[in-house]
Amino acid sequence: MDVDDMGQDLERVLLDREQIDARLAEMAAQIDADYAGRDLLLVGVLKGAVMVMADLSRHLHSAVEMDWMAVSSYGAGTSSSGVVRILKDLDTDLTGRHVLIVEDIIDSGLTLSWLLSNLRTRGAASVEIAALLRKPEAAKVDVSVRYVGFDIPSEFVVGYGLDYAEKYRNLPFVGTLAPHVYAD
Ligand code: XMP
Ligand code: MG
Repeated sequence: MDVDDMGQDLERVLLDREQIDARLAEMAAQIDADYAGRDLLLVGVLKGAVMVMADLSRHLHSAVEMDWMAVSSYGAGTSSSGVVRILKDLDTDLTGRHVLIVEDIIDSGLTLSWLLSNLRTRGAASVEIAALLRKPEAAKVDVSVRYVGFDIPSEFVVGYGLDYAEKYRNLPFVGTLAPHVYAD
């Protein structure tokens, strides 16, 4: 799926695939340098982080492990409440591990701040966060994100793993939807 397949549903492209890929390569170089000589476990947050995980990890030169979690924040619609429920937990014991949480987007920061403290109680040697996108609202909760791809405006975005009603995850870019999509 790409721009041409979107017809009138696309408002605009915020980040195209080249921009995303170039930034992920830079982030991967930083991660390689920071974790040199240490075994790293990447923890992807389903479902949104699937694309980021796939592309970021393939830019890494080190042989990392990957695991996945699925969480859901209680609360309606497109904003999160900070009350988080684990839908799928990790298969990996975190004791002594260096963990890097891989996320698509940090908005209010509530989900990641909950996840960070949850994983930190499991005896990991370190827990850090890499997020492709960050919205200004992320300041609401002071969660320190070690690696950020792009700061974006406070608009609802889709593509590159991010969905609206489970659709548009398979767009290779990040963009905004035309208002009629939400109205339909
Ligand atoms: P918080 O507010 O806890 O939320 O940082 C993070 C989660 O909210 C979802 N989210 C979005 N999903 N387009 C999306 O498709 C967006 O613009 C957006 N903003 C937040 C997402 O699930 C993220 O993990
Ligand atoms: Mg998400």
